Amino acid sequence: MSTIQLRTPIPGPRSRALGERRAKAVPRGLSHGTPVYVAKAEDAWLEDVDGNRYLDFAGGIGCLNVGHRRDEVLEAVRAQLDHFLHTCVQVTPYESYVRLAERLNEVTPGKFAKKTIFLNSGAEAVENAVKIARAYTKRPALIAFNDAFHGRTMMTLALTSKTHPYKAGFEPFPGDVYRIPYAYCYRCSYGLTYPSCKLTCAHALEDAFKRMVAPESVAAVNKGSLPADVLARLDAVAALLPRRPFEEPMILPFNDPDSYSGPGMANLGAGIPVGRLR
Ligand SMILES: Cc1ncc(COP(=O)(O)O)c(C=O)c1O
Repeated sequence: MSTIQLRTPIPGPRSRALGERRAKAVPRGLSHGTPVYVAKAEDAWLEDVDGNRYLDFAGGIGCLNVGHRRDEVLEAVRAQLDHFLHTCVQVTPYESYVRLAERLNEVTPGKFAKKTIFLNSGAEAVENAVKIARAYTKRPALIAFNDAFHGRTMMTLALTSKTHPYKAGFEPFPGDVYRIPYAYCYRCSYGLTYPSCKLTCAHALEDAFKRMVAPESVAAVNKGSLPADVLARLDAVAALLPRRPFEEPMILPFNDPDSYSGPGMANLGAGIPVGRLR
């Protein structure tokens, strides 16, 4: 039996009927990438309510790198259901929380002491990264990059760069967020080509410290995963930042596994919503 099976026009009659119920019951603001309603999913395929079967290239937008309904994941979920479902960890903690934090700290690159907190989503992890950076440094400003996506809550929307469909109509956003071009060679903000560009984008941070925000006001720069030569340049500029109270320069690398702090999300729960902040 082939994985891909198309038995009806797409969307099929049952998906269309569900679409009509959805239009009456659910706000329009929640959009859907496809008009088909899923009935079952396994590994890398999913089947809709009309019996059509597809290869799932989206995987819950990258949340299911292990595939749908993997045995180990289902077994762990079932075992947990037999013990307890929720206590609210702030009210009553449990060993598995500590064990997962220990495991993530162990497998995360970097020779330094690490700690991990779990949150409900990627956006909540980013929100907490901002709260921690501001509370710890006692500084307000954040530097983010063009084309960044950090989530859909108000603080993460302030950090997110793309206006449509994310930001338009939801202004005003929390302040003290400054934005500079990213090292994005495919669509360079300056219309230049690497390496003859001479890393013009990397100089933007230095420029921002002169023209937008004083370095001593900056709590975090979200440097993400930048090419090594751009990072080297950024790190050199970041060295201009006051080093207290972190021992490292005031760079908060939101998605950089080699550095000391950053939120992560998506794939951690194999489909169960959970984010982490290390
Ligand atoms: C880089 C990045 N940051 C933050 C988020 C927000 O995560 P969540 O949708 O779990 O809130 C995402 C989600 O796609 C993401 O890709």
